[in-house]
Amino acid sequence: MTLIETVHDLRQWRRKAGNHRVILVPTMGALHAGHTTLIEAARKMAGAHGQVAASIFVNPLQFGPNEDFERYPRDLDDDLTKCREAGADMVFAPAVKEVYHADRSIKIIETSLSTKLCGASRPGHFDGVCTVVAKLFHLFQPDDAIFGKKDFQQLAIIRRLVRDLDMPVTLHGIDTVREADGLAMSSRNRYLTPEERLQAPALRQALLAARNARQQGVTGAHRLDEIMRDYLAKHAPLGRIDYVEIADARTLEALSVVQDHGLAALAVFFNEARLIDNIEL
Ligand code: PAF
Repeated sequence: MTLIETVHDLRQWRRKAGNHRVILVPTMGALHAGHTTLIEAARKMAGAHGQVAASIFVNPLQFGPNEDFERYPRDLDDDLTKCREAGADMVFAPAVKEVYHADRSIKIIETSLSTKLCGASRPGHFDGVCTVVAKLFHLFQPDDAIFGKKDFQQLAIIRRLVRDLDMPVTLHGIDTVREADGLAMSSRNRYLTPEERLQAPALRQALLAARNARQQGVTGAHRLDEIMRDYLAKHAPLGRIDYVEIADARTLEALSVVQDHGLAALAVFFNEARLIDNIEL
């Protein structure tokens, strides 16, 4: 497996890959089984001749001023071992100054999907995501790129980015990988205290409660919302709800009545750890 740290070397690597299929797994590092599942899926898709690349870059543009950019976990050696074991051929791990010019003045702004859910409470977050993903797609020119569905909104926005800018890349969403107790894997789970960790699976349970209610015929978003909030209040008292929402999975618009394409999504803070999860209803 090759480690590349500069744009110059990445371009050379891309030229060498030529017409072989290139599959990209963009990450911010601090890799866990959720990420290695994406790399393993890429390996299967790429076959013997395709090239599997992962990027590891904690993107400052997608963090707000009071968010965890500085203390976001970084462990390149461990990440490289995980990438190698999962079957990556190359890892791109650039420094911030390699990716962004000090006087950069261009960013990519999605103006609809990114105003809802996480975008409403993290202004500018998805501009940062779109900008870095567009740059990565531009540099790698991948045939395919793989993202996890835990970040449902992120994937929807990147699909829109690719569609609206006619980027020749096929996107694949992979199901969320979970701990045995249902907690969605996340690099931020390591911020949880033992007591918070015990309560965190309530996010998944609250979503399952909403889906069960939906399957039993409840269609009112207000009622589904209430079911999730009640569950969280009872089982995750250390959590502070950022949002709990029933939305249309295609537009991310809040719904008042759920028919098809319902999505339940939530974000909960445990002190500084902001955890998200979602379920299609
Ligand atoms: O999902 C992530 O890890 C990041 O948002 C991404 C897509 C790598 C962009 O920085």
